[in-house]
Amino acid sequence: MVQRQSVVMNKSTNTIGNLKHDEKLRKTLADFVIQRRNSSDLFSLCDDLYESIEYKSSHGHHLYGRVLVSSNANYALVEDSLNGSTKEMIMMGSNSYLGLHVHPRVINAAKEALEKYGIGAGSPPLFSGYYDVHRELESNLSKLKATEDTIIYPSGYATNVGVISALLGKNDTLILDKLSHASIIDGGLLSRAKFATFRHNDMESLERTLKKVQNDNGDKLVVVEGVYSMDGDIAPLDKIHALVKKYNCKLMIDEAHATGVLGKTGKGSLEHFNLEGKVDLVMGTFSKALGGIGGYICAKKEVIRYLRYYSHAYFFAASLPPMQVAAQNEALQVLLEEPQWHKQLWENIEFFHTELRSRGFNLENSQTAITPVVIGDTFLAQEVTKFLYENGVFVNCVPYPAVPRSKDRLRFSLSALHTKENLSRVIELLTKAAKIFNLLRN
Ligand SMILES: Cc1ncc(COP(=O)(O)O)c(C=O)c1O
Repeated sequence: MVQRQSVVMNKSTNTIGNLKHDEKLRKTLADFVIQRRNSSDLFSLCDDLYESIEYKSSHGHHLYGRVLVSSNANYALVEDSLNGSTKEMIMMGSNSYLGLHVHPRVINAAKEALEKYGIGAGSPPLFSGYYDVHRELESNLSKLKATEDTIIYPSGYATNVGVISALLGKNDTLILDKLSHASIIDGGLLSRAKFATFRHNDMESLERTLKKVQNDNGDKLVVVEGVYSMDGDIAPLDKIHALVKKYNCKLMIDEAHATGVLGKTGKGSLEHFNLEGKVDLVMGTFSKALGGIGGYICAKKEVIRYLRYYSHAYFFAASLPPMQVAAQNEALQVLLEEPQWHKQLWENIEFFHTELRSRGFNLENSQTAITPVVIGDTFLAQEVTKFLYENGVFVNCVPYPAVPRSKDRLRFSLSALHTKENLSRVIELLTKAAKIFNLLRN
């Protein structure tokens, strides 16, 4: 049985000071990547990683894969991996920004479809896995994103990989923001296209990149995210769109964190920037504000038909279960018919950001529900996560290499379900942590 070597906060300075120099606690996932390059044994790295995670867990420094034993709304019951007890925590780690995963209408739609269709689709969509509910959801998504047609994939990850790898080939160029999501990069790697990058949300850098590749062979696809998943900032889509058109390239936007959040009625980036119908490929997921799982791509009908036959992640994968699709359809209707969730989310964003910024916390350029609180050091970020955990707040720690060095952070996800009391409690605890760990010294 692993014993927790807890850092007791009120006599913490020395203990933290000692632990701070513990190399085993300072190890990051990047260290294991380096090790893989230097080793010829496939599994030696797994053994070392296993041991490292055991060690970190015993110090409360590995707060990943925590087990929930209730729904994941503004509160969740969470199992303590060390003693097996459960405790109620304020949930600040869910991307279900509108709380639609627990909305009664959405749950009922899933229940009815479960009774009607059973639990699975039974096949990929081109064989026997395409149901009336899939067709209906595709049609509703086309309306939401103002495009001709849409297809649904098993996940957002599969959508990016499946679309980019099916459309691009080795003569083409994929132009990416430096903070692009792994699924976009993986799609590019599978396509064997050339990569060109630009600095995050930097339009001068984008134009330099577009100029550099303009005379290359093949087509060029620029992929950006409506809202960036680690910083919560918004891509300047109007400027990006103008530049992409100027250089005669194609544009794809990943709306994972923008759908249900941006735009007057929550339709996403295109509504926010008044660009409906103007972007070549609009990708989204059901796993964030729409509360479920699955992904989709919207485009002109010829592109969608091509993807149905040539995108392996669509063609060779079983369809989403009809009950899931029916629930997503209902979630879309709730988004459009019950604007109070979208309004509440924005009130929560405004309150949480204003309070934390006024206390001196670094939230980067976050403008949305994703709220990074930058700590700037892997060890400290883990200590603060643990402190919050011990005080009943569930938040995700995002250390290097998931973010650049010195940008280690806690990533708070805001929801329409959070009450002002929930958020005030989190702010109070963060303020306490700032004193204990000397977080605001600069
Ligand atoms: C920007 C972005 N794109 C795609 C994905 C993948 O979506 P999913 O988790 O639905 O597979 C994510 C998920 O984290 C994301 O943040």
